[in-house]
Amino acid sequence: MQMPDGLPTEIDLTRPSAARVYDYFLGGAHNFEIDRQLAEQIASMTPHLPATMRAGREFLRRAVRVLLDAGVDQFLDIGSGIPTVGNVHEVAQAADPRARVVYVDIDPVAVAHSRELLAGNDLTAVVHADLREPQRILAEARGLLDLDRPVGILLAGVVHFVPDADKPAEILATLRAAAAPGSHLVISHSTFEDQPQEMLDAQRLSARTATEITLRSRAEITDFFGDWTILDPGVVHMPLWRPDSASDVDEHPERFGAFGGVARNDRPVAG
Ligand SMILES: C[S@@+](CC[C@H](N)C(=O)[O-])C[C@H]1O[C@@H](n2cnc3c(N)ncnc32)[C@H](O)[C@@H]1O
Repeated sequence: MQMPDGLPTEIDLTRPSAARVYDYFLGGAHNFEIDRQLAEQIASMTPHLPATMRAGREFLRRAVRVLLDAGVDQFLDIGSGIPTVGNVHEVAQAADPRARVVYVDIDPVAVAHSRELLAGNDLTAVVHADLREPQRILAEARGLLDLDRPVGILLAGVVHFVPDADKPAEILATLRAAAAPGSHLVISHSTFEDQPQEMLDAQRLSARTATEITLRSRAEITDFFGDWTILDPGVVHMPLWRPDSASDVDEHPERFGAFGGVARNDRPVAG
């Protein structure tokens, strides 16, 4: 990849970035040799990780298609990372060229690359914000999205970065309250349920070094949907959520260690 022109100078392109390592695992082009070296090192230590990331992105794509079929044409994707190959705007705008997407991420590197990648796409916007400031995110999103119409709120692989002390349930309630009837909420979230002990041990180790992840139970993750109607097949291990074909689901759908689910706001339209 060429050194991008538009990147802020405070971003150090000589050091690996989590966002670009993630992009590499997903098959994107927004990464450098330094990122690829780290990615290969991580992959050799945790061989399941790249497949887990791809399974997460696949779940997100299937969910976005279901939302498009339901008539949702605007999306608020929080914790979006770098919108690399087959991301939300590509899936959405392939189905509906007028579809709008606001990408939000806390990581300045992801935001800078996203802005560069999406330059010229007037139906997308990139916001640098923290999920823990939902009111600011909603205010920024209103610049491109009409929240009086159904919106798809996408929280793929991000709520587990919010510890209980930061009150994720309240954050979710704020986002749901701002969304019109017919809106949908998509969540994928890491879990300890059904996981082998060695996974949990590795998790405990990594929590000491990297950004800490809060693993949650299926019941806790289900509660994030509040009183919205959870669509079939419920909150399930990600590969089990409406797979494209039965052959996409192997004998161990729990091996990615994350639940996924989608819910719809069936609140009656205010009269
Ligand atoms: C595992 S990646 C998921 C990327 C994408 N949603 C997907 O499913 O492929 C998690 C992303 O969440 C972002 N993130 C972590 N904590 C966040 C927070 N508090 N607010 C916003 N974004 C956050 C990270 O920077 C990263 O880009």
